[in-house]
Amino acid sequence: MRILAIESSCDETAASIVEVNQEKPKVITSVVSSQISVHATTGGVIPNLAARLQTEAMPHVLNKATNNQTEPYDAIAVTVGPGLIGSLLVGVATAKTLALLTGKPFYGINHLEGHIYSAWLSEVTPELPALVLTVSGGHTELIYLERHLEYQHIGATRDDAAGEAFDKVARLLGLGYPGGPEISKLAVHGDRSAYVFPIGLPEKSSTEFSFSGLKASVAHLVTKTPQLSDQQKADIAASFEYTVFKTLERKLTAALNLYPKTKTVAFVGGVSANTYLREALTEYCSRKSLPLVIPPLKYCTDNAAMIGAAASMRALFSQPDDWYNIEADPNKEL
Ligand code: KG4
Ligand code: ZN
Repeated sequence: MRILAIESSCDETAASIVEVNQEKPKVITSVVSSQISVHATTGGVIPNLAARLQTEAMPHVLNKATNNQTEPYDAIAVTVGPGLIGSLLVGVATAKTLALLTGKPFYGINHLEGHIYSAWLSEVTPELPALVLTVSGGHTELIYLERHLEYQHIGATRDDAAGEAFDKVARLLGLGYPGGPEISKLAVHGDRSAYVFPIGLPEKSSTEFSFSGLKASVAHLVTKTPQLSDQQKADIAASFEYTVFKTLERKLTAALNLYPKTKTVAFVGGVSANTYLREALTEYCSRKSLPLVIPPLKYCTDNAAMIGAAASMRALFSQPDDWYNIEADPNKEL
């Protein structure tokens, strides 16, 4: 069974064909059209513009993902939320129309569910129970997955998401949008111990996150230093990344203490594309004798293959949705 998956929750228009293949979904095609170059000029996503660009890109992306054939798929999946309402509506309306015209099964997928199942697109199949750390531009969540499709919330951010902190710190340092990759490039030349920034909610047993104090601390440093040298900027980027790592490490430790039956840790979402965090967390997990599963880079940031992966689990272990009752929901909860 092949699923056509569509993702349009923010500033990426994506479509993918994913084959249901037991617990190892197989990506047949994956096309992502990004608006980053447009939003880079304004330093962030402008929702109305994002929605219009989604409308323009969607037919081309669909055409490419389906190799210009009309029906090389047996089911349709789409991100229904959370995200920007205008952007979401483009994907949802497209998918519902396809479902209406073809009569094929329809799966409404939560964007976070997609990020979680992106871990099943890596070479190693995560073993359950898994502890999934989802770290993106909009979310920072710890989720325990004892059985497929049953998400236990362990902790989330009380303020900024980790990716948001990357983007804001990048802006403070005069770097481009999105900030994550820019910080990552700069941090390579910096000293990770040059500055000490605070870990949010540092209590040992806390599985909740907070990144606003870290961001404020960087902002304070930047405003009180009139002319930052290139080396100082690199040191700030490196120390910032180190603090993000120490935060994730501390929260994972608290979560693993609560859930000692965990067999796999998964690190997903846009921030999991960060080279330093990938390496540091791999080392942390090997110290704990636990496998760390991280998706290939192309499935860390927003894409439709991850939506297809989540839908393929729905196809295996659950039921399709009635498309008639599904609406785009910008605040959709997992
Ligand atoms: O998952 P994603 O594409 O979209 C959301 O669902 O939010 O994540 C985007 C976020 C942005 O904040 C971006 O700065 C961050 O992921 N990001 C990174 C890297 N690549 C993207 N953060 C750190 N290092 C990276 N290499
Ligand atoms: Zn995302």
